[in-house]
Amino acid sequence: MKRPIAAIAGTGRGLPAAVMTNFDFAKIGIETTDEWITERTGIKQRYIAREGESTTSMAAAAARQAMQRAGVSAGEIDAIVLSTATPDRLLPATAVDLQAELGATRAAAFDIGAACAGFIFAATVAEGMITTGVAETVLVVGSEKMSSIIDWQDRSTCVLFGDGSGAAVFRRAKHHKGILSTYLRSDGTLANLLYRPGGGACMPFCDDVLQDRSFYVKMAGREVFKHAVRSMADACDRALDGAKLTGKDIDLLIPHQANMRIIEATAKHANVSMEKVYVNVDRYGNTSSASVPIALDEALENGRIKDGMTVLLVAFGAGFTWASMVLRF
Ligand code: ACO
Repeated sequence: MKRPIAAIAGTGRGLPAAVMTNFDFAKIGIETTDEWITERTGIKQRYIAREGESTTSMAAAAARQAMQRAGVSAGEIDAIVLSTATPDRLLPATAVDLQAELGATRAAAFDIGAACAGFIFAATVAEGMITTGVAETVLVVGSEKMSSIIDWQDRSTCVLFGDGSGAAVFRRAKHHKGILSTYLRSDGTLANLLYRPGGGACMPFCDDVLQDRSFYVKMAGREVFKHAVRSMADACDRALDGAKLTGKDIDLLIPHQANMRIIEATAKHANVSMEKVYVNVDRYGNTSSASVPIALDEALENGRIKDGMTVLLVAFGAGFTWASMVLRF
């Protein structure tokens, strides 16, 4: 008997109203230039949440659109798996706030913490639940308010990130389409290259944490860059092997949108030409675990993904974590 396949039935995205361009950093006293940011990263602008916009509210907007496109009501959702590095509250999980917001009363709701690779981790959990019969309909969301955890006095990190959310409804596939392979990896020995030292249980929030700004993201940029390129290349190979495909079989590569140079290096390694790579880092910056589902949603909406196409997702983030997935639409 063939193993059942989980597939995407609908996607959506939710974004803050305000856009911040590279030129806007000067207005808040950050010494940087559009030229520096563009050359190093490819980013031109990002969305930034303002008062009243939260990880949950962006997730709800993305989820409602995904549910509407999938033709799924809140009452049909069996599980909500939400990936975030920026939960609205430390307890309980943001997924339960989303559940309440949507009125998905039957759902089991929980968060996943795998940073920028989190959406693919969450989608893999959804796949497991669907293929083992634990759930029929799973809402997977990546939602991030990165502006709340970046240090707005640190020009080497604050220019990189943006806020937003992407969602996908997964169900059992009807026509042998959907997830063909997944690959997940982590290396916790490298955790301190990209992390938030303070504010958690081992260094609870106090005056010292506030003063030394250790609750904000700290990143060894060059090291992260090196590992991102290596790990995303590895992840592409593994998911392609798992699906018994090569880069030539891929119609669209959707890499995590952190940095144009990382995206180009990943595409080159995977043997996918840049015309077949989805890029929106220029408009969103790095939205962590929201980046892959936002790009996926755009690609479905604007026709870059058509029926029958094979798509490779790949991401890398804090942990380090890295992951990939091959899907047939
Ligand atoms: N504007 C102007 N100058 C800046 C800025 C800025 N925003 N930030 C740093 N600089 C300066 C530094 O002070 C330094 O100056 P100095 O030489 O006088 O000391 C100079 O630019 C070079 O700094 P580096 O940090 O060495 O610059 P680098 O070329 O490595 O680029 C960058 C930095 C863009 C962060 C790069 O390392 C990178 O992209 N790393 C990957 C990080 C990433 O994508 N992280 C996201 C999370 S993980 C993920 O999602 C993949």
